[in-house]
Amino acid sequence: MSLARTNLAILGLQWGDEGKGKVVDLLSPKFRQVVRFQGGNNAGHTVVVDGVSIALHQVPSGALHPGCFLVVGNGVVLNLEVFQQELDRLKARGFDLTGRLMLSEKAHIILPHHIALDQWREIRADKVGAKIGTTGRGIGPAYEMKAARMGIRLGDLRHPEALAARIAPGYEEVQIRLGQDSPLPSLQAIVDGLLKTAEPFLQFIGDTQSHLIEAWGRGDSILFEGAQATLLDIDHGTYPFVTSSNCSLGGLFTGTGLPPKAVGQILGIAKAYTTRVGAGPFPAELLDATGDRIREVGREFGTTTGRPRRCGWFDAPITAHACRTNGVDGLAIMKLDVLDGMEDVGLIVGYRTGEGTVTTKLPSCASEWRDIQPVVKTFKGWDSTRGITDHRNLPSQAQAYLESLAESVEVPITYLSTGPDRAEGCIYPGTFLEPLLG
Ligand code: IMP
Repeated sequence: MSLARTNLAILGLQWGDEGKGKVVDLLSPKFRQVVRFQGGNNAGHTVVVDGVSIALHQVPSGALHPGCFLVVGNGVVLNLEVFQQELDRLKARGFDLTGRLMLSEKAHIILPHHIALDQWREIRADKVGAKIGTTGRGIGPAYEMKAARMGIRLGDLRHPEALAARIAPGYEEVQIRLGQDSPLPSLQAIVDGLLKTAEPFLQFIGDTQSHLIEAWGRGDSILFEGAQATLLDIDHGTYPFVTSSNCSLGGLFTGTGLPPKAVGQILGIAKAYTTRVGAGPFPAELLDATGDRIREVGREFGTTTGRPRRCGWFDAPITAHACRTNGVDGLAIMKLDVLDGMEDVGLIVGYRTGEGTVTTKLPSCASEWRDIQPVVKTFKGWDSTRGITDHRNLPSQAQAYLESLAESVEVPITYLSTGPDRAEGCIYPGTFLEPLLG
């Protein structure tokens, strides 16, 4: 099997859950290294092995391909207990990652008081209508502690005698905020728990930056797997309704320690419609039977929290913004078949502002999103695209819809998914993905 010749970044272009897992799973056999660089166990995807599904949150998707070495970069925040559960589930299915996994010594650890703070804050914010709808996994507080210079990194586990003193300042701040009645475990219990959970991981902790630079130097192909997506990026997303990391391309460099030259191509992943979980601007949202239908047919419920996702038409302005932010070379459009059998299919091509003008520019501030209304271009629906493997065999209405979609974001389609199965999809001839997937 020929391996990829350039390193590839796979990034979400909407609000997450675009189906990156399927694409990474298809592509990872062509890469020697598969790398996660940001996020934590707020991410989630399900991989299917022999009809049995395994939910993964932090282990890179290449886990099921024995030829892939898996790297968790310094930009990731890790819940080690959850990581252990993922390793156990994989092992039970015959996938032992010993010898092909490295976790950055600079990656930060999510601790019990981070999770408590995340949940406490959301309950308080809800009372004043300011809830973000986080996954409640402690992601934000873990990144806050990192920025506040009170975070604990995997490398700190090599110095157990210093852990209590390192954890104490952050722990005490959380304790003050939550008050005496908070159900926080004691500092000692947190330290003891961490040391116990961390023990099996010590063998995996290493200098991932040097590992990747060496791998790159000897010509190993590298696949970078983004978690969440550009509209959830802390800088380029719909702030403050975002996650706490840079999910767009910039996060890849800070989250691995590799320079921009290390990335050859960028594949952007988007669904043929749009979803988001949690609160925040979502101009595409369909609060009617059409939205419900997309949710039911597309099984749009969170992998991590089980929450129903908000659903709407494909939003070209947000996706074009994500393409520009990441310099996307090609699109993978997922779940087209979910729109099968609909009378009409909508595509959002712009926004009407409060003043009545039409724009494709995204507001930069949450309150400005409230005044905009989507401008929807309507297409005639089609019967079925399920399982089609050659885009020339798509119904003409679906072809017209996809052509308009690609034009509106100014990026060509390279892959189209027409069903959950690996085989259900079209690789577009002449695109950079063809030699990899063809
Ligand atoms: P946090 O990442 O748990 O802090 O959540 C912040 C926002 O990001 C919330 O709206 C979450 O629903 C959203 N979010 C975080 N991770 C994902 C994901 O993997 N898919 C979709 N939404 C996510």
